[in-house]
Amino acid sequence: MKTSPENIIISKSEKETIAAGKEYAESIKPGEVIGLKGNLGSGKTQFVKGISSYYNVKDIVNSPTFLIVNQYEGADPATGKKITVNHFDLYRLKFKEELETIGFEDYINEKSICLIEWSRLAEEFLGMEFREVNFDFGEKETERIIKFTKK
Ligand SMILES: Nc1ncnc2c1ncn2[C@@H]1O[C@H](COP(=O)(O)OP(=O)(O)O)[C@@H](O)[C@H]1O
Ligand SMILES: [Mg+2]
Repeated sequence: MKTSPENIIISKSEKETIAAGKEYAESIKPGEVIGLKGNLGSGKTQFVKGISSYYNVKDIVNSPTFLIVNQYEGADPATGKKITVNHFDLYRLKFKEELETIGFEDYINEKSICLIEWSRLAEEFLGMEFREVNFDFGEKETERIIKFTKK
C-alpha cells in the first residue's frame, strides 16, 4: 500500500483495501458520518469490512443491497465502549424523502458511526457534505485508487 501526500492510496488487492479501511477507522470519531463514493465493484464494501474489523465486529460484512442499512455491533478500541456500525447502501434510493421514512437521522448519534455507500442523497437530505472516501478503478484488474477528503 502506498500513501501519497495528496491522500491517495493505490490498492493492489482486496486485502489492501480492507487494510486501508482498518487504518482509516482510527481517524473516525463516534457520531461521525462518512460518505463512500465510486462505481459498483470499486471496493466500497471491502473498505467497510476493514473499518468494521477495527471495531471488532464479528458479523460478516456484506453490501446491504436489498435492505438499505446493515447494523453491526462492535467496540471502539480507543475507549472500549460499545459502538454500532451503521452501513448504508443508498444505490437503490430514488428520492431523499425515503430517508425520512426509515428515520435516517436517528442513526446518527454518539454511540454509532455511519458509513454510507452512494451517499449523495443523504447529503442532500441533511443539507451537508460528509467526509468522503472516493473509489476508482486502476489500470489493472485488481487495482483500486482510493482518495480521501481532508478533515
Ligand atoms: N484492490 C481491490 N480493492 C477492493 N476490491 C477489489 C480489489 N481488487 C479486486 N477487488 C474486487 O472488487 C470487488 C469490490 O467489491 P465491493 O467492495 O463490494 O465494491 P462496491 O461496494 O464498491 O460495489 C470485490 O469482488 C473484490 O474482490
Ligand atoms: Mg457495496
